[in-house]
Amino acid sequence: MNPQQHETPFLSNLIKARDAHEYSFHMPGHKFLPGHHPLMTALAGDLIFEADMNEISPGVDYLHAAKGALREAQRLQAEAVGADHSFFLINGSTVGNEASMLAAVHDGETVIVPRAAHRSVYGGLILSGANPVYVPPVSHPQVEFPLAVAVDTVADLLRQHPEAKAIQITSPNYYGYLSDVGGLARLAHDHGIPLLVDEAHGAHLPFHPDLPPSAIQVGADLVVQSSHKTLGALTQAALLHLNGSLIAVSGVERILSLMQSSSPSSLLTASLDAARQQMATEGHALLTETIRLAAYAREGIRAIPGLWCYGDELVGEYGVFAHDPTKLVIRVTDTGMNGHTFATHLAEEHNLFGEFVDPKHIICSITIADDEARVDYLLNALHTVAAQGKPTTTENTLPSLAAPALPQMVMNPRQANFAASRRMPFSQAVGQICAEQIMPYPPGIPMLLPGERIDADMVDYLRYVKANGVAIVGPEDTSLEYVRVIGGE
Ligand SMILES: Cc1ncc(COP(=O)(O)O)c(C=O)c1O
Repeated sequence: MNPQQHETPFLSNLIKARDAHEYSFHMPGHKFLPGHHPLMTALAGDLIFEADMNEISPGVDYLHAAKGALREAQRLQAEAVGADHSFFLINGSTVGNEASMLAAVHDGETVIVPRAAHRSVYGGLILSGANPVYVPPVSHPQVEFPLAVAVDTVADLLRQHPEAKAIQITSPNYYGYLSDVGGLARLAHDHGIPLLVDEAHGAHLPFHPDLPPSAIQVGADLVVQSSHKTLGALTQAALLHLNGSLIAVSGVERILSLMQSSSPSSLLTASLDAARQQMATEGHALLTETIRLAAYAREGIRAIPGLWCYGDELVGEYGVFAHDPTKLVIRVTDTGMNGHTFATHLAEEHNLFGEFVDPKHIICSITIADDEARVDYLLNALHTVAAQGKPTTTENTLPSLAAPALPQMVMNPRQANFAASRRMPFSQAVGQICAEQIMPYPPGIPMLLPGERIDADMVDYLRYVKANGVAIVGPEDTSLEYVRVIGGE
């Protein structure tokens, strides 16, 4: 390791600037003075404002024209993860996914994207004007969610769409399962196009050999990571990494300066500097303990009657290439409860909240901030709730009617986003072009997206899942009596 990785150029400069106690007659309006609002003090202490400086303060660099400490901090970040370039993001992986799409594809160009993508990927499609070719979601029969994108499936799509200009995937997903990113990168590069990876849940991966490799290490061109999700950075702090020459550095810089605030938060950027330094210098030791704790938790959960915690036994199935051991996917249904009921007991009786809940599972994430006492608390709470034997009274699982094929895309996301729309009864919408996203939740995969043709099978399916108690997310009228379709009033 380069000894410079011990340094925190931006964070250290910020401390110096704060200690200089300048007389500020510039923004921010709080003038770094403590206690200017009692509720903010109640929330975060008197001193939170002291460090909230911007580039006007001497020695504080500016993200959009980084010359000094921020340039060096981003260089150290790239070095620490093995990327050619790393960019600090202050609007989460959300802006990273949007910027990646804008950097890789332009108006009217084709991009291959999994249907089960975060909404920021869809945002990137709207902003870029690209035409998505969706990887059809194939749910894993046990987990009931698509866990990965198979290389063969994408290879087939590329044969059908040789005009594709990029491939975008999410890996790991919320459940901690990874696709064969290396295989997908080779496939993309064989076609001369870049692979963009939403690795929002994998900022810790580069820092331990017992974790699956990060997309940065296996050839992806643009990789987005939420440092706030699995490392110690503050919420919204994230990273965009660039490798290779298929995407121009200057293009990424230009897009990020267009999309990120012109007043980037020093607190967020300093927390990225700190998270990188911590990972580069102590990451191996910290993550060794995290992985040990997660294994201890997994073993403990498997010993609780009625519970199961998945691990790498699903690797090799449905395109799953690897599993991140720090994600605990806890199946609760053998207790007689569904995920939501179980999660409610955990919240109300133990003040404990997992990262994500679906009808069968509670997903908990173990990070470098956990210790054995916290894991014991989790195990104890899980044990107590599992032993209560208070079964769920209402079912909340997706009914067995097979989902219809992906709908026909008539307008691309950008065209649909800017088209006029009107409201009409859903039952009469067959043949119309949908103007909104309609997503049964669970499983949280959009069945209709703006610009897609509504056919009779889709109307029947959505009305059926709705009638069976599945929530509908996305449309203005979530009761699905009405839907917005493309076309003026
Ligand atoms: C897979 C995935 N991608 C992107 C994002 C957006 O990340 P952020 O909250 O850092 O903007 C999320 C957030 O939940 C996510 O789960």
